[in-house]
Amino acid sequence: MNLVERIKAKARTNIKRIVLPEGDEPRTLAAAKTIRDEKLAEPILLTKEIIGAPSNATKLKTYATALYELRKTKGLTEEAAAKLVADPMYYGMMMVKLGDADGLVSGAVHSTGDMLRPALQIIKTRPGMKLVSSSFLMECPDRSLGENGLLVYADCVVNPCPTAEELAHIAIASADTARTLCGIAEPRVALLSFSTKGSASHALVEKVQEATRIARELAPGLLLDGELQLDAALVPEVAALKAKGSPVGGRANVCIFPDLQAGNIGYKITQRIGKANCFAVLQGLARPCNDLSRGCSPDDIVNTVAATAVQAQ
Ligand code: ACO
Repeated sequence: MNLVERIKAKARTNIKRIVLPEGDEPRTLAAAKTIRDEKLAEPILLTKEIIGAPSNATKLKTYATALYELRKTKGLTEEAAAKLVADPMYYGMMMVKLGDADGLVSGAVHSTGDMLRPALQIIKTRPGMKLVSSSFLMECPDRSLGENGLLVYADCVVNPCPTAEELAHIAIASADTARTLCGIAEPRVALLSFSTKGSASHALVEKVQEATRIARELAPGLLLDGELQLDAALVPEVAALKAKGSPVGGRANVCIFPDLQAGNIGYKITQRIGKANCFAVLQGLARPCNDLSRGCSPDDIVNTVAATAVQAQ
């Protein structure tokens, strides 16, 4: 089974309710049918008309009041909260927040920022997690890489310029995603740089070294090392030369990029030039919400809903 098949099989074992706030979008409608037919999740399609129906007035009021309470210290008024929950994205987030749904998938129409902002403001981070980030699950044709061709890349979507402490949290959250979503029993995490084990001196290298130190302190049981160049992280022959004795050198399956420019460019190179299949999930949220690319296909939506359902388990 490939990664998507494994995720779908796991989703079927415990059906979760996943909100789709872009419920009148044709690819989303097609995906919802497949999700139902394949018994991957219970899709909840939202539209402005469904939310605004008279039979839904009580729910709308409940969500508006809860949103106002959540955001009043940030300056949100009762009137503004009532207006916001009439938007399917905010309504869907409130369903997830109040437990009326288990997760949310959106982004066929909305931009990444428009989906992320309400998730960050309403769902917020999981207890103990400093920030929300993302993992790209990369399935490479070269099976000698990572975990039988599977690599987890982070952060490629959310945090433009993480601090050392934030990088450490991204590393730990990504190892968790590797375990729970990809079924990787032993995540081996490399914190990437343009330097391997002090081969170069620069403030940017020191940041990755500091992130490695913090991550080790926070997760002493995790197989993790840095700073490593990508080839020292993935290729055993290079690791033998540059990173002798590293616990993950040459066999990393989780790659942590030093910032969003590196991560976003890195995943696109792997996808376009390396011909890897990929899809992204958010990690660190109190409840799972995931973003789609606006160029997504119905199958992409189905796969992301299945992954969201697994995260909700
Ligand atoms: N984790 C947790 N909370 C966060 C995070 C985070 N990483 N980032 C922001 N927040 C919270 C803030 O604390 C704030 O909460 P509060 O309102 O309760 O105080 C709230 O989110 C809004 O924070 P702002 O700093 O005002 O965030 P802003 O709206 O400016 O931006 C965003 C947040 C959208 C995530 C921004 O960092 C961003 O645009 N990131 C890049 C997204 C992107 O374009 N990615 C690349 C393309 S995607 C692709 O290629 C697949």
